[in-house]
Formats: sequence, structure tokens, C-alpha cells
Amino acid sequence: MRTGVFVTGTDTGCGKTHVAQTLVAQLRTRGVKVAGFKPVAAGAFWRDGRLQNADALALQAASGFSVAYETLNPYCFEQAVAPHLAAEAQGTAIRLERILAAYDALCTLSDFVVVEGAGGWRVPLGGSLDIQGLACALRLPVLLVVGLRLGCLNHALLSEQAIVASGADLIGWVGSQVEPEMDYLKENLVALDRRLMAPCRGVLPHPDGPEQVSLERPLELDDICGLDPDGRSNAGMS
Ligand SMILES: Nc1ncnc2c1ncn2[C@@H]1O[C@H](COP(=O)(O)OP(=O)(O)OP(=O)(O)O)[C@@H](O)[C@H]1O
Ligand SMILES: [Mg+2]
Repeated sequence: MRTGVFVTGTDTGCGKTHVAQTLVAQLRTRGVKVAGFKPVAAGAFWRDGRLQNADALALQAASGFSVAYETLNPYCFEQAVAPHLAAEAQGTAIRLERILAAYDALCTLSDFVVVEGAGGWRVPLGGSLDIQGLACALRLPVLLVVGLRLGCLNHALLSEQAIVASGADLIGWVGSQVEPEMDYLKENLVALDRRLMAPCRGVLPHPDGPEQVSLERPLELDDICGLDPDGRSNAGMS
């Protein structure tokens, strides 16, 4: 089994958290001790005397076990703006070392870590660091979430091109239908299948959409996570 996966997406609001928490929950039912990780979050509220972010809490809830908040989400900014701007507004800077230390701590606590990026692949994090640099520093395979809506073909193709050019290991894409209605959803999926080089690893249609059942493709856990094909985790055996 791999140590984790980095979930990026075609844009902000494309379904990264939806896919990541589904992945976490499904791995959990397979008996994998899986942790969620949201290294950088912009958009937070005060709870228990500190800023907390909804994505980080959703991933933690799906995983079923608690870790210290600063390990789950080392950088949490109040304003829902670009992370480097949110950091500047709080008078701080995002340091890669702190994120890597939190990731290492999660690795010691779990079999597998599902990391959710912020926004899309080239979102700046400050200085020369961006999401691409973070994913590469974590040395994790990348899963691209394609938010199924108008514009997704262009966003998906550009994202794939950039991920491949970075040298990261793109293990596939997952379609996530962010709104119940999308014209030509089926045809868009065919276009993505034909044009993206990476394989599709699942499609999560919107539950209120008319084509929910026919277009669903279950998440391919074995291929995303390197699970034993008989469905069991072989964590700890290698
Ligand atoms: N497959 C889906 N079915 C139903 N709702 C979905 C689906 N995918 C996304 N959504 C909804 O679309 C919205 C955006 O999704 P989500 O929060 O997962 O995006 P994100 O990429 O994580 O956004 P951010 O950049 O803010 O982290 C949410 O309200 C989510 O519940
Ligand atoms: Mg999210």
C-alpha cells in the first residue's frame, strides 16, 4: 500500500473535499487506518479558542480518529482568499518544513494519508512555494478531481499537462458533479475519457441529479491507494 495520495483539483470548489472524504470513508470500511490532512486552509471560523476549517474537520470526521488540530491543518487562515494573501494578512508565511513535519506525524499515526490541496495545482503559497511544489515535496502520487461543470474540459486538460510536466506521478482523475444539473454530462465524461492521458478512477455524480445511477463509477481504491486487490489492506506487510 502507498503511504498516501495528494488530492488536487481543477479549481477551487471542484469537489476535492467531497472526493477526499469519500475516499477516507471507503478506506476506513476496508479496515485501513486512514488520516485526512489539509496542510493549508483559507476560510475558517473560531472554535475552542482557535481558527478551524470545515474541510479539515470533514476529513477528520471521515477518518474516525482525532489528531491535534495543528497536525491535521498546520496552516489555517481566517479569510477565504488566496492562501499567500491570507497568510500575509495574518502577518505570517507558509513554511514547507512545518507542513512536512505535520505530515510525518500523521504517517506515524496512520496507514494512509489523504492530503487535500487548496484550490488548483498552481495556487501560490508564498515566495516560490505553490501547491505543485508542496505535492512534489511530499513525494505523493496525485489524484486530480475534475469538477464536472461547464469549463471542466479546458481546466482538466491544463491541470493534467501541468501535473505531468512537474514530474509528479498522476495516478488518475475523479469526476465530481458539483451541481445537480449539468447539460451534456455524459458527453463531457466521454470527452474527458478520450482526451486525458491519465485513467479515470471514479465518477461521483450529484445525488440530486437525474443521471446519478447511470453515470456513477465507484472509486477505484485498489489503484488509488495500492490496496491488495482482494480488498484488504496490506499495510504494515511491506
Ligand atoms: N459529487 C458531488 N455530489 C454532491 N455534491 C458535491 C459533489 N462534489 C462537490 N459537491 C459539492 O460542491 C461544493 C464544492 O465541493 P468541495 O467543497 O468538495 O470542493 P473543494 O474543491 O474541496 O473546494 P475548496 O477549494 O473550497 O476546498 C460542496 O458544497 C460539495 O458538497
Ligand atoms: Mg475543499
